[in-house]
Amino acid sequence: MKPILRLITLCFFLNTTNISAQDYFGQFSKTEFNCDGEDLNFFLWLFENKTQINNFLDIKKGDKVVEIGAGNGINFGVMSMLYDSVNFTAQDINETALNRISLNKLIRKYTKYSGKPQTNTFEIVIGNLTSTHLKDNTYDEAFIINSLHDFDKQEEMIDDIGKKIKQDGKFILLEGYSFPGDTQTCPDYGPHVLHTLDFELARFEKHGWYLTKMRAPNFKAAHYGQALIYERDKNKSLAFYTKKKNVDEVISHAFRFRDNVVASDAALMLQITDSLKPRIRDINQAYTGFETWLRELGYKHMMKAEYQAAENIFKSIIDLYPTSYQTYYWLAYAQEKQSKFELALKNYSDALAKSPNNEACIKKVKQMEKLSNGKN
Ligand SMILES: C[S@@+](CC[C@H](N)C(=O)[O-])C[C@H]1O[C@@H](n2cnc3c(N)ncnc32)[C@H](O)[C@@H]1O
Repeated sequence: MKPILRLITLCFFLNTTNISAQDYFGQFSKTEFNCDGEDLNFFLWLFENKTQINNFLDIKKGDKVVEIGAGNGINFGVMSMLYDSVNFTAQDINETALNRISLNKLIRKYTKYSGKPQTNTFEIVIGNLTSTHLKDNTYDEAFIINSLHDFDKQEEMIDDIGKKIKQDGKFILLEGYSFPGDTQTCPDYGPHVLHTLDFELARFEKHGWYLTKMRAPNFKAAHYGQALIYERDKNKSLAFYTKKKNVDEVISHAFRFRDNVVASDAALMLQITDSLKPRIRDINQAYTGFETWLRELGYKHMMKAEYQAAENIFKSIIDLYPTSYQTYYWLAYAQEKQSKFELALKNYSDALAKSPNNEACIKKVKQMEKLSNGKN
């Protein structure tokens, strides 16, 4: 795992026990992507399935897409499973990591995962510390994924990248963010701090880039992964901020799910859930990944063996979003951990009904049938 990715994971899930964050996030990567969690790289932490990625990124056939600081190009491996006839350009300063032979090999691997012929094209461009060496006014989407914090000359790079994006193009950042007062530094690279989201939004505005989409709320209490889309259209950004402000107050109650005392209190959780329920459509319009973000709060409790809190969170999510098999699975898992085997059997069975042939669910149902036999 890359150092900063490990940092984010470590910080978000500090003092944890039991299975790793990667196991929670990657549990259904085979079901949803036909590959292991680690093959999804940074996407693992932000999106649970192809539809979520598609809806958020909105990349179209024929688009020219570039990633700056692409490393070996792994993120285009992931994207190549989702898109057809897209022109991908992987850019980095490191010619050893990013080269034609290894990129071709990587793309072959992901083409196998996708199970369909490869129709995308892949180019490589090598830049330097202040310049991408890309063509001006060329790209529909420019990504920086888990890299901006690594750039020595960030302001110069943001300016240079801006020139390469078409007038109506998008600047997409998938990154980790910090919180005010944070003193955590990277265990591998020392003083290697992540910015707060507020700092980042203000500095992108100075470069003429305005926020038009974000995956999840600005969670100021932990390191966390976030997906942001910036565009030049100020009015579009104002419309986004109107939607966001419309729900931020009610969402702030959900931040309390993070507290074990709050989340363990079923009555209080019901009260908070009831306040969110009538606003869920508005919330989804502001934050496309709100449901996933709530599930992440559940994982966080499970990582600390706070299973009652996790159980209550997953029940809340079912109240708000009744259709996802993942929530039923994790609700059952939290119940299993508390030896509530009959309840676990019921919820694993519900997960299986919503995701037929799901191997993880089938396995758990069989286990619970044995364990629940007269025990609850
Ligand atoms: C943590 S890695 C992330 C790689 C990839 N984006 C991923 O998600 O796995 C950061 C990358 O940024 C690259 N990098 C650092 N400074 C850069 C710059 N000025 N321009 C382009 N790439 C840069 C590094 O060479 C490295 O490959």
